[in-house]
Amino acid sequence: MKYDFDCIVDRCGTNCSKWDNREALFGSKDVLPMWVADMDFCIATPIAEAIKKRTEHEIYGYTQTAPSVVEAVIERMKRKYDWKIEPEWVVFTPGVVSALHASVKAFTHPDDEVIIQEPVYGPFRSSVTANGCAVVNNQLKLINGHYEVDFDDLERRFRLRAGGMGHVSPRIRLMILCHPHNPVGRVWTREELTRMGETVIRNDAIMVSDEIHCELLFRGFSHVPFAAISEEFARNSIVCMAPSKTFNLAGLRASSIIIPDRKIRERFNAARAGIMPGPNAFGLVGLEAAYRYGDEWLEQLLDYLQGNLDFLVRYFEERIPEIKVVKPEGTYLVWLDCRGLGMDDANLRTLFREKALVGLEDGYVFGAGGSGFQRMNIACPRATLEEGLKRIERAVKGR
Ligand SMILES: Cc1ncc(COP(=O)(O)O)c(C=O)c1O
Repeated sequence: MKYDFDCIVDRCGTNCSKWDNREALFGSKDVLPMWVADMDFCIATPIAEAIKKRTEHEIYGYTQTAPSVVEAVIERMKRKYDWKIEPEWVVFTPGVVSALHASVKAFTHPDDEVIIQEPVYGPFRSSVTANGCAVVNNQLKLINGHYEVDFDDLERRFRLRAGGMGHVSPRIRLMILCHPHNPVGRVWTREELTRMGETVIRNDAIMVSDEIHCELLFRGFSHVPFAAISEEFARNSIVCMAPSKTFNLAGLRASSIIIPDRKIRERFNAARAGIMPGPNAFGLVGLEAAYRYGDEWLEQLLDYLQGNLDFLVRYFEERIPEIKVVKPEGTYLVWLDCRGLGMDDANLRTLFREKALVGLEDGYVFGAGGSGFQRMNIACPRATLEEGLKRIERAVKGR
């Protein structure tokens, strides 16, 4: 069936974080929200039907994970990535951020260190600090409009902290990888993943690979799950997947965390025990339906997002050349380099929020390297995107 992504759906009044929060977050209900990572599109019909069917049985008691849910994850990994995973590897959580916290809790002692690559999704840093650990930032390098890993710095970070060996703290225990990367949009290549992974494993650390955006890819890019690269990588990693970004199901709170190594899995589960339940009944139904029947919708979505990206790139080039687009390879988030406007972060914030009335994410919330940038969510009907761009153009011209 043909889906209509141009359709403008009114989300107000649904307790929607993006639209119902505008006054509190941006100071005005007139702000066009293009921040939090969900989409202004209706979900695939088979997913909606599966959830409706489940609601019809009017008992919503404690729910276990059906074997068919696990099979849906196994089949998807095989079909999409030719990655053969075993049923016992899959652990279900109510989100990826909670899995990041559980990973840090499971594998660190106070004052240990965790590598992240800023500018990066804010909860990476807070999952580390909330567990009493320190962030080691292997900052990404922006070279000719393209972000790259600083491999020398990554090696150096481990060398500098090499004092604590084995189980002696403090030392670097984990790296949290964002793959594809929010907000810079990189889809790491097999070569890049291999180099990062070899460094992490050689230094006796574990890679936690957040792959929540892995099915949102622009034309010409493909995803390689970190743990699918080799058996050694599988034995030393935690891969966080979910249908939530891809199929717009974030409110259903269901993620599948793939942990091939039994000991790592046991420690992860021990860390979450009692504080992190599995997904709710509707989340599991949504996850299974998305993975089994969502692809027709997803193909059309990806075409539409490609159209939105092309439209945005052209718009900035032709009408707002002061702002440079860091062209994403994946995700529906676009990282805008606004440093050409010559404004500090406070003025940039005022320009977008108060003058343009557009609600983007300030770059500095993504940590080091984010100052002077804004992140824009383009998963909306083209007319909404065009309206947002027009508002930005007017504000930039009138500044
Ligand atoms: C990289 C990344 N990880 C995790 C999340 C959120 O995951 P969850 O809602 O499953 O906790 C987001 C949301 O934007 C994200 O961009």
